Amino acid sequence: MILKEQISLLPYNTFGIDAKADYFIEYDSASDLQAVLQSAIVKNNRTLHIGGGSNLLFMNDFKGVILHSAIHSVEKIGEEDDSVLLEVGSRVNWDDFVGYCVDNGWGGVENLSLIPGEVGAAAVQNIGAYGVEVQEVIVEVNAVDVETAELRTFKNEECRYGYRDSVFKNELKGQYIITSIVFRLDKKPVYRLNYQHLEEEVLKTGELNLQNIRKTIIHIRETKLPDPKILGNAGSFFMNPVIPKQQFETLHANYPHIPHYYVSETEEKVPAAWLIDQCGWKGKHIGNAGVHDKQALVLVNLGGATGAEIVHLAEQIQQSVKDKFGIVLKPEVNYI
Ligand code: EPU
Repeated sequence: MILKEQISLLPYNTFGIDAKADYFIEYDSASDLQAVLQSAIVKNNRTLHIGGGSNLLFMNDFKGVILHSAIHSVEKIGEEDDSVLLEVGSRVNWDDFVGYCVDNGWGGVENLSLIPGEVGAAAVQNIGAYGVEVQEVIVEVNAVDVETAELRTFKNEECRYGYRDSVFKNELKGQYIITSIVFRLDKKPVYRLNYQHLEEEVLKTGELNLQNIRKTIIHIRETKLPDPKILGNAGSFFMNPVIPKQQFETLHANYPHIPHYYVSETEEKVPAAWLIDQCGWKGKHIGNAGVHDKQALVLVNLGGATGAEIVHLAEQIQQSVKDKFGIVLKPEVNYI
C-alpha cells in the first residue's frame, strides 16, 4: 500500500481540474485492498474510489481519502476451441487491454478502442461505442465489500447491465470495489460493423480484420474527440436520452432529420450531441468552460476552468435543451 498526503488531483482527472485531496492510497492486490479497507485512516475518513479519472468532475477539494487500484495483472485463465478467458486487473489501462487483445487476434473489444480510463471503471460504467458494450464480453467481476472487506464474485447477470449502467451505479453504489474482471474473447472474431458507416470506413484502410477495425475506430475518435492531454475533457458529458416512442414521434414530426436509435417497441434513443448542437452550443464557451467544436456532447476545459464553471455551462445547456425539446439531459460524468 502506498499512502500520499495533500496531493493535487490534476494527474488523476482528464478534465484537468486542479483540486486537492487530503490522502491518496494505492493498493496492488485484492488482499492489500482488504487491509487498506480495515485501516484506521480509511475507517475514519470519507473515501472516494477513482479509476482513470475520465468520468469525474471535481467541484471542490476532496476532504478525505482517494483510493486507486494498482492491480496491473493480465492472465489467461482458460481456453476453448473458439474463445479465451482472461482475468484482468482493475488498474490496467482500458486501451492497452484492447491493443493486447487485437495483437493476439482475440475479438470482442476492438470497437471499444481508445476509450479512456481503466478496466475496473469500464465494468462499472458499461462503456460502449460503435455498437458494442463491454457487458457483452464480461463473464464475471471480482470485487471487495467496502464494509466487511470480504471478496465477492458477480456473475454477468448479477451486474444488471444497461446503457452506461450497472448495479455498481445503483443498488450497490459505493459498496464494492472492483479488483479484476474475467473477459471471454473470440478466437474466431465476429466483426460488428453496423454503426453508421463503420464498415465503409474500415474498408478504406484495407481488408476487414481486427487491426484495421481498431485503426479505423482510433482514427474516428481522434478526429471527433479532443485529446485530454491537450484539452481537458471527460468524453461524452451527458448520456443519450431514451424517450417514450410517442414523444419521439412528436419530435420527429417537427424535426424530420432528427437522428435516432431503436431501443424497444416503446422507446427510442436520440443523440444528446444533436440536441445540443441544434440549440447552437457547438464551439461556444462560458468563461474557461467550452463545448467542443467537433462534437457537441463533449465539454472542454479551455484552460484553468474550475469544476463549478464546467457545471454552470452544463446547466445552461440542460436548460436550453429542456426549453427547446422538452428533454432533460442526464450527466454521464460524476460530480464530486
Ligand atoms: N451529432 C450532431 N452534432 C455533433 C455531434 C454529433 O448533430 O456535434 C449527431 C451526429 O450526426 C450523429 C449523432 O449525433 O447522428 C451521434 O453522434 P456520434 O456518432 O458522434 O455519437 P454520440 O451519440 O454523440 C455515443 C457515445 C460515445 C461513443 C459514440 C460512438 C454516449 C453518451 N456517447 O456518442 O461515447 O464513442 O456514441 O459509439 O452514449 C463516451 O461515453 O464518453 C463516449 C464518447
